[in-house]
Amino acid sequence: MKLMAGNSNLPLARAVAGYLELALTDASVRRFADEEVFVEIHENVRGEDVFVLQSTSFPANDNLMELLICIDALRRASARRITAVVPYFGYARQDRKPGPRTPISAKLVANMITHSGADRVLAVDLHAGQIQGFFDIPTDNLYAAPTMAADILERAQGKDLVVVSPDVGGVVRARALAKRLNNAPLAIVDKRRDRPGQSEVMNIIGEVRDRHCIMIDDIIDSGGTLCNAAQALIDEGATSVSAYITHGVLSGGAVARVDASALDELVITDTILATDAAKDSKCIRILPIAPLIGEAIRRIADESSVSSLFD
Ligand code: R5P
Repeated sequence: MKLMAGNSNLPLARAVAGYLELALTDASVRRFADEEVFVEIHENVRGEDVFVLQSTSFPANDNLMELLICIDALRRASARRITAVVPYFGYARQDRKPGPRTPISAKLVANMITHSGADRVLAVDLHAGQIQGFFDIPTDNLYAAPTMAADILERAQGKDLVVVSPDVGGVVRARALAKRLNNAPLAIVDKRRDRPGQSEVMNIIGEVRDRHCIMIDDIIDSGGTLCNAAQALIDEGATSVSAYITHGVLSGGAVARVDASALDELVITDTILATDAAKDSKCIRILPIAPLIGEAIRRIADESSVSSLFD
């Protein structure tokens, strides 16, 4: 087995390599003067089971291109099997046509990864489960919920918890977390969005008064959804609000928005390399995802069950 990395999240790649007690494959993924991506693998990979780790986070197009070119280089170097390990799968929110004459970019990106020569895909908390079906190759979708649940159970012992979905679309994810938290009660923020990038909280479905709210979502981008929801929960009488989000996209002024919000704490995983602002924020804590990804890679390489990781 070999583990190769693009440049999007080298600390995560090193942590996964550490979990697997492997050295990262000796390769350079660099730019020509005109910014074209160039990949060179400096060791033999013929007949190997190779995992390429690359999140297609900001800058999404550059990171995607690096991933595609790494896979192409491995295919042409006769790797036996290539697994694209994409902890954060960018473009995932473009998974359907929201209006006439719009693209389904998540499907296009899935096609590009498949046609570049990947044999399998491994991702974490895909924005929608059905994105697995956009790939005509085996695709494993790992869930961060057990990692989050362990952290919550350790820190929130004896507290009256309620798990909150910040929008109607996230109810299945919230219910799954609530189940892992000894069947904690569930609440839902009914959100209406006037314009893309803006969110407006309408009302809370469920009982949150005098309870500690744990919000869960797959992505925090501008932070609007989460910060507005946190304020609505406090207005409704919640004692405190924390949020557990798998992918900390945190674009633009998101970190400042989170710092100034009603949130006690925002916990994100490191599927996306944290910016300095996110690392410096007193409100943001980062949960390592490398053990989950490393264990899934080990099981894929051993041909053993990945789903039993979530039993
Ligand atoms: C939406 O469906 C996602 O699950 C997130 O709620 C959304 O991407 C968060 O975006 P923002 O932080 O910009 O409100």
